[in-house]
Amino acid sequence: VLDRVQQFQFNLAQAGDARELLRFLPDRSASFVVFNPQHRSDLDHLKFGNEAARQIGRAALPTMSDSHIDLCLREAVRSLVPSEYVFYWIDTFFVCMGAHLRVADVLRPVDLVSWDNLRMGMGKRSRRRGDYVLALQKPPITAKTWTDHSIPSRWSEKIDRKSHPRIKPTELTSRLIGAVTKPGDLVVDPAAGSFLVLEIAQLLGRRFVGCDLMRDSKETRT
Ligand SMILES: C[S@@+](CC[C@H](N)C(=O)[O-])C[C@H]1O[C@@H](n2cnc3c(N)ncnc32)[C@H](O)[C@@H]1O
Repeated sequence: VLDRVQQFQFNLAQAGDARELLRFLPDRSASFVVFNPQHRSDLDHLKFGNEAARQIGRAALPTMSDSHIDLCLREAVRSLVPSEYVFYWIDTFFVCMGAHLRVADVLRPVDLVSWDNLRMGMGKRSRRRGDYVLALQKPPITAKTWTDHSIPSRWSEKIDRKSHPRIKPTELTSRLIGAVTKPGDLVVDPAAGSFLVLEIAQLLGRRFVGCDLMRDSKETRT
């Protein structure tokens, strides 16, 4: 039985499943993977009872189970050049739960940047003001593939949520891509939301491949 793999295009905003996209990539072809899934359990622990329009928009996004997320991360490792990174966006709850440690046998956590979106959110104890991005490195572990040493581990940046309820900071994303890739390298975003990473990759002269389950496949942006 042929195991059919969906074909994806480069430098395009397209519809698709994250794991399918990662399966499509050849071994050791990617220099940067950013992964910002909508966790299935996220919606439960973030229920505060006074949700505004933005939270309702977030609740409408399709979610991924923990096991789907782990399979995506493991597939991402296969597609990565050795010593390159998955930048994994997670919130306070998942940092506390150590969600990334389920894949620590193949992806080592080597750094963490805390993003402050400068806007008071909600919370059952402290109130949320941004998320975290973990740098998970494929072995062999070395700092030599990271070239920008002036990125602070506390990063303040406002975002404009009009294009997507979960959009991430442009400048931080741009600095991270610049830190670990060179022009022409392949940048991957398998749950791309707003396709902000496509825009940044193009500005920086990197190749891009990515998808989102919610993307209208007829709509393209190059
Ligand atoms: C947190 S958002 C990503 C936001 C993105 N980082 C940005 O800056 O715009 C998560 C996205 O994952 C998408 N998604 C959920 N399940 C998916 C799947 N199986 N494959 C691909 N995308 C998926 C959702 O539609 C949603 O847009």
